[in-house]
Amino acid sequence: MASAIERVLEIREKALKEIEEAKNLEGLAVIKNIYLAKKSELTSLMGLMRELSQEEKGAFGKAINDAKQAIQDRWAKKAQEMEAKKLQEQLEKEAIDITLPGKEMKAGHINPYYIVIDEVSDIFASMGFEIVEGRDVETDHYNFELLNVPKDHPARDMQDTFYINENQLMRTQTSAAQAHTMIKNEGKKPIKMICPGKCYRRDDDDMTHSHEFGQIEGLVVDKNVSLADLKGTLEMFVKKMFGEKREIRLRSSYFPFTEPSVEVDVSCAKCDGKGCAMCKGTGWIEILGAGEVHPNVLRMCGYDPEVYSGFAFGVGIERVAMLRYGVDDIRRFYQNDIRFIKDFNKN
Ligand code: DAH
Repeated sequence: MASAIERVLEIREKALKEIEEAKNLEGLAVIKNIYLAKKSELTSLMGLMRELSQEEKGAFGKAINDAKQAIQDRWAKKAQEMEAKKLQEQLEKEAIDITLPGKEMKAGHINPYYIVIDEVSDIFASMGFEIVEGRDVETDHYNFELLNVPKDHPARDMQDTFYINENQLMRTQTSAAQAHTMIKNEGKKPIKMICPGKCYRRDDDDMTHSHEFGQIEGLVVDKNVSLADLKGTLEMFVKKMFGEKREIRLRSSYFPFTEPSVEVDVSCAKCDGKGCAMCKGTGWIEILGAGEVHPNVLRMCGYDPEVYSGFAFGVGIERVAMLRYGVDDIRRFYQNDIRFIKDFNKN
């Protein structure tokens, strides 16, 4: 009996020592398997009970249970300490030094060309205009003929362009979208649209000319659309785009696809119409061409000019951006000079 209890105490001491010396959680798991599993030595010692007297049984059973409990408690405590230590080490290893300076995020900027398209589109959309997409490669038919510019028309001289073949060309004006929209609406539906996009011409590039530039076309077709409607619409546009104080002036002009045709000036924002270098002393700055849609154009595009009338206009995108933001050279829009775009975005 004495030796059996001694054996229990021995196991107990050995187990507690091993627990104390365990290096990690894996080692601790092995110890648990040896001393606390169902088939551990302590459990098997219970077999000796049969040979003991009633009194001895009590003392022996107590020794075994005490040993088990002590091992269990110490083991749990050690396991908890090790878990906490491991977590602490992990936290230290993965710590982020929030005092380090962060990485600077460089956000891109929108080219003023596209800002103007968005602004003009917003203004016309608020007046109920639809925004349609045209195409850069056009046929001679849509770019010229349906706009009342037949093959031998002198107006073609000013709009030489890049030809893909005899019939296909890079469009010289967004006005081509007028013909597409009218034909799509089959000569009966009313139209109220704008079409922004690129145009191409064989121009010598200088401060105000580029072989590639943007226009925004506008077209309204319905019954009884007059020049007064054109004036009211453009006045609204100019005030929203350039400020409430701006006025417009219509000068008679010529375009093959409008009759009458006008050129529209806006009062100079810099001198408020008094005359300065920006407006060349006149107090006015030309911003767009416009007019009543020519009856030939309406007819060729399927609308009866006896029933329908309309107005159209074409605005140069870079021209608006240059005026609005004081840009001196059209080529700046295409040079991808980051300083220009950054500077501009401060506005
Ligand atoms: N397409 C003309 C150009 O490129 C601009 C223009 C003038 C468009 C009058 C129009 C218009 O719709 O009515 O010079």
